[in-house]
Amino acid sequence: MKTDARAAAARVLTQVIESGRSLADALPPYQNRFADARDAALLQELVYGTTRWYFRLDALLELLLKKPLKSRDLDIKCLLLTGLYQLDKLSMPQRVAVNETVQAVRALDKEWAHGLVNAVLRSFQRDRERLNRVIAENPVALHAHPDWLIELLQNDWPIYWREILSANNARPPFSLRVNRQRVTRDEYLGLLEEHAMHAEPLAWTGQGICLTSPVSVEALPGFSCGDISVQDGAAQLAAELLQLAPGQRVLDACAAPGGKTALILETEPSACVTAVDIDAGRLSKVGENLARLGLHAELVAGDAGNPAGWWDGGLFERILLDVPCTATGVIRRHPDIKLLRRREDVMKLASRQSAILQAVWPLLAPGGMLLYCTCSMLAAENSGQIGSFLEQHGDAMEAPIDANWGHRCGHGRQILPGEDEMDGFYFACLQKNI
Ligand SMILES: C[S@@+](CC[C@H](N)C(=O)[O-])C[C@H]1O[C@@H](n2cnc3c(N)ncnc32)[C@H](O)[C@@H]1O
Repeated sequence: MKTDARAAAARVLTQVIESGRSLADALPPYQNRFADARDAALLQELVYGTTRWYFRLDALLELLLKKPLKSRDLDIKCLLLTGLYQLDKLSMPQRVAVNETVQAVRALDKEWAHGLVNAVLRSFQRDRERLNRVIAENPVALHAHPDWLIELLQNDWPIYWREILSANNARPPFSLRVNRQRVTRDEYLGLLEEHAMHAEPLAWTGQGICLTSPVSVEALPGFSCGDISVQDGAAQLAAELLQLAPGQRVLDACAAPGGKTALILETEPSACVTAVDIDAGRLSKVGENLARLGLHAELVAGDAGNPAGWWDGGLFERILLDVPCTATGVIRRHPDIKLLRRREDVMKLASRQSAILQAVWPLLAPGGMLLYCTCSMLAAENSGQIGSFLEQHGDAMEAPIDANWGHRCGHGRQILPGEDEMDGFYFACLQKNI
């Protein structure tokens, strides 16, 4: 069955590269085919690991192949990449990695590739030191990122770009949010110990914890009754930054799947929250998440860039604007971003963000506060975006974020991926003049 996991990995990766499907979309149907959880876990490890190291593995493969494979044999290329990943980065016995990967050609119906896969993997084993020296000269292979993203990060983070690239290639922590309406963080940490699970409090939040070894969410005590949710520590900072007060009208303008909607309501249960998302399918996830937690918000499927379609005319005291972005701060969680995003997406997303920000600003009450955030590392979506907005809106004032986490930017504050176990995240607080 392990052979099938490798062939399935090749198929999933083919879909990501050829059709631009995300791993979150392409992987589950294949995982569900495995009765044995170990095969599903191996498949997950292979696709996430190979994607994480794609630009390094691809450079190695180019050196190892005498001539490039035909485009119709992308599945074999992907199988070879997963084989190289196992030899390069995993601690499994090398003999097993080679033999099982070679056998997987049968499950792909490409018996002709048996000799090729065997030859490529064995020549990597023989020649790996020389190959590593050759690719060390190539920044794309060395940092395992696309060239356009390396360039943008060098430009926006001249001191930290290497740390950012390296953090993007690390495995993410398993971060959780304790529902303080139901249980304290200390009580929940005690509950985990009783279940032989160890976790540490996350810095800078009153409710975040980090589990030492990942488990399925269903295995977490109290998950089904709403004691605990999966959420990165950086995202959890939104609650404090919003400075919520009882009974406020709050707009969560890009809400799905509802992580921050739930955080707002767990922090201030009397808040009157309207959760908007343009994607009705994703919005239904907000409903499911809130139902599990016993929380309530008004759910609206609509375009935040065009409030006329859904707004009742009542002003909001708080607006959370967690805009769609390049997600370049969460690459360690979603390594397929390196393959799916293009340089031109940055400006397209920046102009969508600007349109949404301009459209929701009139919905904010005088004296109210809008929290703009992204999981991007790029200035065009963050500090640059807020700078242009402030130039054009005389009734907006930036409320500086005085914090011990992250880095102050021209406008707003940025957390780099991996800092204090958090994802790369950007926040800016905008206040409306009275
Ligand atoms: C970064 S995600 C939000 C994550 C969410 N705040 C959370 O914490 O779970 C961005 C969301 O914006 C939504 N979106 C994109 N364009 C939008 C628009 N014009 N109006 C409303 N929602 C939009 C996307 O469907 C996506 O669900």
